[in-house]
Amino acid sequence: LNCNVKRERSYILQVLFNGLRRLEYRGYDSAGISIDSSSVSLPPLVFRKEGNIESLVKSVYQEVDATDLNLEESFLTHAGIAHTRWATHGEPAPRNSHPQSSGAGNEFLVVHNGVITNYEVLKQTLIRHGFSFESDTDTEVIPKLAKYVFDKSNEDSGDMAVTFSQVVLEVMRHLEGAYALIFKSRHYPNELIACKRGSPLLLGVKELREDSSKGSLFHDDKYPSQNGNPRELFLSSDANALVEHTRKVLVIEDGEVVHLKDGGVSILKFDGDKGKRGGLLSRPASVQRALSVLEMEVEQINKGNYEHYMQKEIHEQPESLTTTMRGRLIRGGTCKAKTVLLGGLKDHLKTIRRSRRIVFIGCGTSYNAALAARPILEELSGIPVTMEIASDLLDRQGPIYREDTAVFVSQSGETADTLHALEYALQNGALCVGITNTVGSVIARKTHCGVHINAGAEIGVASTKAYTSQIVVMAMLALAIGGDAISNQARREAIIDCLFDLPNKVREVLKLDQEMKDLAKLLIAEQSLLMFGRGYNYATALEGSLKVKEVALMHSEGILAGEMKHGPLALVDESLPIVVIATHDACFSKQQSVIQQLHARKGRLIVMCSRGDAAAVSLGGACSRVIEVPQVEDCLQPVVNIVPLQLLAYHLTVLRGYNVDQPRNLAKSVTTE
Ligand code: G6P
Repeated sequence: LNCNVKRERSYILQVLFNGLRRLEYRGYDSAGISIDSSSVSLPPLVFRKEGNIESLVKSVYQEVDATDLNLEESFLTHAGIAHTRWATHGEPAPRNSHPQSSGAGNEFLVVHNGVITNYEVLKQTLIRHGFSFESDTDTEVIPKLAKYVFDKSNEDSGDMAVTFSQVVLEVMRHLEGAYALIFKSRHYPNELIACKRGSPLLLGVKELREDSSKGSLFHDDKYPSQNGNPRELFLSSDANALVEHTRKVLVIEDGEVVHLKDGGVSILKFDGDKGKRGGLLSRPASVQRALSVLEMEVEQINKGNYEHYMQKEIHEQPESLTTTMRGRLIRGGTCKAKTVLLGGLKDHLKTIRRSRRIVFIGCGTSYNAALAARPILEELSGIPVTMEIASDLLDRQGPIYREDTAVFVSQSGETADTLHALEYALQNGALCVGITNTVGSVIARKTHCGVHINAGAEIGVASTKAYTSQIVVMAMLALAIGGDAISNQARREAIIDCLFDLPNKVREVLKLDQEMKDLAKLLIAEQSLLMFGRGYNYATALEGSLKVKEVALMHSEGILAGEMKHGPLALVDESLPIVVIATHDACFSKQQSVIQQLHARKGRLIVMCSRGDAAAVSLGGACSRVIEVPQVEDCLQPVVNIVPLQLLAYHLTVLRGYNVDQPRNLAKSVTTE
């Protein structure tokens, strides 16, 4: 936060704490904050705490009381920073929390999202120059390097004082890895510098006077004076922290250095090695760009009447699916044929149809969504479709060719593994398509073309509504690539009709909520839960078990039913609960025989079947539970089938007393490899 309008300390703390609460889903093992002291002659105040945001808030207010700091005290201008952490280097502890400091006196303070890969080398060099380190983080080298650069350049440049941005540009020259950084310094009160490479960063602008709203273009070095337009400026890793203050944002690009001072902004472009020739005081190029408007409402990121985000996001799937399909399905009217329009792909469809193969690449739930869509894409396009978990593709340096279409599926659009796989595929010359939920994300911007899933902000760490929207987008992708061959027409039209009705079917299946809660009560003390699926619903088994694993902290495995007899059958006894997904499709009779084989081994069966099939799957009451779901087109059945399993995972978690929205050790966006 940087503002040039009179604000009380309590207000500043509140803005920063609320910002952290909005970002907590990205990491929640420790947090920290830095605000100004009452006098610029005193070092900025820093508070850091292990645990969630509320532990930080509590400790700050306790310390504020203890040190008699005045919450009523007003500042005419202010620059404050805050951070919530998901540990990569070093255990969660106050000394490893951010802001990291240059040392005594807090001359430079830094908050960081990302990983500095060459920090060991930098650390050794700084130690040789007399610095000592207190944390185990990679980040600590950054403020220390800033202090080193600042001291050194002040020695060298005599009277010509070095500016804050010159210090940061020089620091950037030495950093390798991924980062979004915000610097605060005792030497530059009321100023903040942010820069990024790889990790996301947004600038939000809140004009506090109506008639000043024209200032939507920034001009280098045109800082409003202290009595200029009153403004609050926000920097954040994501839009959730900004939207309650402003919807006017600038997506900061790699290599840009954003300088906030007294409510004014200037943006410089980091010029890499070139700057070395001109020395520290050479002038980098300035950047001018128009602000964009966030298409997001505050309500989207509130829990509403729900107790948890995951619960809200499960229940809003009828609406999120409707938004995903809005404007993309055409039925009747002037256009007689039923068809699909994906604007982001229209110039690339021919190339995709000519591809030698389509490769889906993603992690976690996004990978599972692609797996669910694979059969329909193969069927309608006739192109071979292969699957890659992003990290595994990178580990193997698996073959990707110019003739391939590589489809990157990512809710956040910033998962490091998926992003690196994208860079790899770009180097290999493949056509790269992005399927993400985050407009302006790195994956959305680096791919050649793509489709936004438009599911709305997803805050629960366990992905739910993004999963179903991703499947729907990929089914639409299959329809778009498949073209309008007469042989496929009836199938295409049936799928399009089903898509129109899908939100209603999901609304119906959500009525199983109480039934799933009752089932969760039965399973609450289990050690393990297996899920068997095949065909379209192998992905459902994987995704259902991923939900149970990640939030309910119960061992769960999704198993391809065709592989049952090649190993997993050995696990089956009368005590182990097993979910078998046996909704009606071409694999139904095979699943019936799986149920019989499991029953013959006394398996404790919970069978999911199409409405009306209960008698056919329950073997005369041998199943302990039957979950009946509405039947839809086979390729869209995974969208319906996952909902009861999401509800089961949700209720299991609540009943077992775990944190639904912030599962142990996990983060929503994993921005490190
Ligand atoms: C993390 C999250 C998962 C998510 C995966 C991929 O592991 O905890 O819920 O599925 O990342 O994230 P993406 O944003 O790329 O879909």
